[in-house]
Amino acid sequence: MELKNVLLIGGSGFVGGWIASCLSQRGVRVTIATRHRDNTKKLIMLPTVDMVEANVHDAGALVALMQDQDAVINLVGVLHDNDSRLPYGKGFAAAHVDLPRTIVGAMKQSGVRRLLHMSALNAAINGPSEYLCSKGEGEAVVRGAMDELDVTVFRPSVIFGPDDVFLNVFARLLKLFPVFPLGGGSARFQPVFVGDVAKAFCDSLTDRSTFAQTYELCGPKVYTLRELVEYTAQLLGKPRRIIDLGNGGWAYLQAGLLWLLPRPPMSPDNLRSMEVDSVTDGSHNYPGWQPTPLEAVAPTYLSPKEIGQLRLDRYRFRAGR
Ligand SMILES: NC(=O)c1ccc[n+]([C@@H]2O[C@H](COP(=O)([O-])OP(=O)(O)OC[C@H]3O[C@@H](n4cnc5c(N)ncnc54)[C@H](OP(=O)(O)O)[C@@H]3O)[C@@H](O)[C@H]2O)c1
Repeated sequence: MELKNVLLIGGSGFVGGWIASCLSQRGVRVTIATRHRDNTKKLIMLPTVDMVEANVHDAGALVALMQDQDAVINLVGVLHDNDSRLPYGKGFAAAHVDLPRTIVGAMKQSGVRRLLHMSALNAAINGPSEYLCSKGEGEAVVRGAMDELDVTVFRPSVIFGPDDVFLNVFARLLKLFPVFPLGGGSARFQPVFVGDVAKAFCDSLTDRSTFAQTYELCGPKVYTLRELVEYTAQLLGKPRRIIDLGNGGWAYLQAGLLWLLPRPPMSPDNLRSMEVDSVTDGSHNYPGWQPTPLEAVAPTYLSPKEIGQLRLDRYRFRAGR
């Protein structure tokens, strides 16, 4: 199966940048649909990647964007929604449920068959949080289209890499506070490297054996949230006293206060998502899956020593030494 043109929806973000870069290296022409062209500035240097400002919630606009495309990748996701209600607020509904429905409809209308859909580990219609419920409903929507479209669904645990909004957020907070109150510290995660996620997406585009399949994308090792925060502090060279707030009232009080910040690092809904461990039993791994250890990558963007060394290496390289 040959593939020349891919439409990336939600491609201006953390994961989107890696997928766009991976596809670009393979000579695929990528169109990133974004609500704000400014969001895509960091991708402007990638050859074969174009940015188009569009309202992706508008079915007509999507059909127009899908002309001459061979595949669509949907990465749109939001972590917070101010309109909190059951089963989920309007923001989660728009991004995780209504948009996949509009994308599926536009694909059927425009005749593009291949769809990669980004969900999340533990997404389920009856999940413990608005995020997971709405992601589950979105998955159900794209699965419902499997008889007419060639769909692959990806369910990652938390994703790490330079520019992640996970370890970097903890790093920011750890630098500010000598004592670190932590809610949900016993929640378990299997962090996966963004480069591995991008590779799985790019490989699967043309691999027919992945059509109509759902894959869980996880790293090689399980950590508690507390272990991850401690590891981040160790890499920063800033040992911190961590105060365990448990999983109950104090943790929710803290999450509620953090949620009021302009770019909230945590919300009560995030805490509810952590009620289920974000780990896999390996039965839904991507074919040939060989995930990169956290310890091989995190120091390169968190440890001041390694960052300094990398900068030095770059100067040496430029100076031809
Ligand atoms: N990062 C993780 O640890 C993680 C873990 C599991 C699953 N995921 C899922 O992976 C996907 C990508 O994550 P990410 O970390 O790359 O997210 P990100 O950096 O926040 O990027 C999200 C993208 O979604 C678009 N977007 C956000 N809200 C939108 C809305 N209401 N309507 C239309 N577009 C909207 C944004 O595009 P514009 O602003 O340019 O329009 C942006 O490009 C998401 O679906 C996320 O739920 C991520």
